[in-house]
Amino acid sequence: MSWRRIDLAESSVRESAVKWSPAYATGVERLDDQHKMLFRISEDFRVALDEGRGERVYDSLLRSLDQYARGHFGVEERCMHQCQCPAAQDNVVAHRGFIEVLAGFHARHAVNGFDRQDAQRLVDFLDRWLADHIGRIDVQIKPYAKLL
Ligand SMILES: [Fe+2]
Repeated sequence: MSWRRIDLAESSVRESAVKWSPAYATGVERLDDQHKMLFRISEDFRVALDEGRGERVYDSLLRSLDQYARGHFGVEERCMHQCQCPAAQDNVVAHRGFIEVLAGFHARHAVNGFDRQDAQRLVDFLDRWLADHIGRIDVQIKPYAKLL
């Protein structure tokens, strides 16, 4: 899969989202699909690292991840705002924090070039952040999702 062409319609999101679990269900199919895609991006990059392709795809991964995450965060924030989910503000703050951390990885890469350890830290951060954020904040939309 090309990092530059992340397209939900072209990917079998449900089958490949190995780390997604029903505990992460938000009650909004579009959000769940986007979360599965984020897990997939992380998983695909972990495989690329393991196979020694990390350096070749890292820059592209950082850009695609930033772009996809921003798009997803925008959709999710609008959903939470629209259905007056009480977690809406916490969600915005957490998303901002994620984008800042990602910018840090990008900046280090721009200055130092590819560093396998830092790339590994990114993929570990991603998995931890997704599991914690979705399970703690995003799922709070569930009781309100029917108002969308
Ligand atoms: Fe979120």
